[in-house]
Amino acid sequence: MKTLILNGSPRLNGDTAALLAVLRENLNGEITEISAYRDNIKPCIDCRKCRTLPGCAIRDDMDIVTSNDFDNVIVASPVYYGLLAGPLISLASRFQFYYSAKAFLNAPIEVTPKLGAVILTAGGSKGNANNAVPLARVILRIRGAALPDEKIIMSAQTDSFPAKNDTAAAEKIRSLAARWNQIDRS
Ligand SMILES: Cc1cc2nc3c(=O)[nH]c(=O)nc-3n(C[C@H](O)[C@H](O)[C@H](O)COP(=O)(O)O)c2cc1C
Repeated sequence: MKTLILNGSPRLNGDTAALLAVLRENLNGEITEISAYRDNIKPCIDCRKCRTLPGCAIRDDMDIVTSNDFDNVIVASPVYYGLLAGPLISLASRFQFYYSAKAFLNAPIEVTPKLGAVILTAGGSKGNANNAVPLARVILRIRGAALPDEKIIMSAQTDSFPAKNDTAAAEKIRSLAARWNQIDRS
């Protein structure tokens, strides 16, 4: 089983990292983590080359993100202004070539079906993630992964209650890992 994590947190030992540590402890198989802050992924510059040739003209770590060689994709991010962190949105802009392949080349790019989940952290009591979730859903849908509601895991109120102490969120992550570990991928 191969899992891709798209991490939108700039903090190496922050709240999102604490929840991802629980995932790593419990999920079997190979985990590849892409940091929207630290890995080499440039934003889409609307060069429009994908309107005449399939794929993106920019060569960088985005090739890992768009690889079909994953069974699961997880979007993990702090909530910033009600959205995903900016660099993760910037990363998502690079999915434009999937749209161009359909709209301009009439040749949709094949995407293998995957399982999806979202892990969000938020400082405020309500989390204010109403707009973050739809964006995460778009990212997962483009990568071939559906996002059922029960796979949205949120740790809110981190300003006063760090995610590393959020036992309820940790339990949800353990249960997600247990379910995915049971699926026969052969
Ligand atoms: C620029 C910025 C914007 C933020 N916007 C929100 C917000 O809209 N709602 C919220 O509840 N918390 C917000 N926060 C708080 C973070 O979501 C919170 O501290 C989170 O736990 C950080 O996760 P991390 O340690 O994994 O980066 C914001 C923090 C920053 C730095």
